[in-house]
Amino acid sequence: MLRVENLNAFYDKAQILRNVNLKVDRGEVVAVLGPNGAGKTTLLRSICGLVKTKGRVIFAGRDITKLKPHERIRLGISICPEGRRLFPNMTVEDNLRLGALLEECNDRLRYVYNLFPRLKERRNQLVKTMSGGEQQMVAIGRALMSNPKLMLLDEPSMGLAPIVVENIAKALKRIKEELGISILLVEQNISLAFEVADRAYVLVKGEIVKEGSIEEMQGLEREYFEV
Ligand SMILES: Nc1ncnc2c1ncn2[C@@H]1O[C@H](COP(=O)(O)OP(=O)(O)O)[C@@H](O)[C@H]1O
Ligand SMILES: [Mg+2]
Repeated sequence: MLRVENLNAFYDKAQILRNVNLKVDRGEVVAVLGPNGAGKTTLLRSICGLVKTKGRVIFAGRDITKLKPHERIRLGISICPEGRRLFPNMTVEDNLRLGALLEECNDRLRYVYNLFPRLKERRNQLVKTMSGGEQQMVAIGRALMSNPKLMLLDEPSMGLAPIVVENIAKALKRIKEELGISILLVEQNISLAFEVADRAYVLVKGEIVKEGSIEEMQGLEREYFEV
């Protein structure tokens, strides 16, 4: 579904990613784990076409390296960004509808409300009055509204209590099972990834230093993260 080949990413002259290679198969959940500043957000932004890069990004069999961000979204890539980036003074439902590419979207809205009943109860509430966990649900819901084939998730567990992370993990499992979409999840906190991912890569200082099944990542926090 997604293949990233020899990706190098730059902000001005600073090189942030070095020869990154990774893939996400159809229906697969893949985690990229790495400490703060490793380049995780830059990787997701590169896949969306928001960063200057060298290398190739292949999506659904097509080379999308030269496509603009909105063209990539149209093809079926959606992102749930770091820090959620919601519209705090708009309601839950308006935030969700904004994810829908101006199309008729009541069926997807129904799916999101079924996935997160809490959002249905609070559909007319302003997002800024919701808890962090509820806001993360809105952000994930919004990313589903465009009917993506691939969803990119940037640290969805950030700042959330373990019990809330557990709810997010359950929702991601349902999304995988019920919608069959591919998910690329970047995380610094590996517990969510352990619950939902099939495979993982470890990114340190812009380079992939390890890859394997999620089970093979046991003990990795000690090895890479406390440096
Ligand atoms: N817009 C930017 N301009 C310049 N440097 C940036 C920018 N965004 C991030 N960086 C740098 O790129 C590196 C990787 O950042 P980032 O991708 O946000 O890492 P992570 O998401 O893994 O914490 C950091 O050293 C950060 O300071
Ligand atoms: Mg980040």
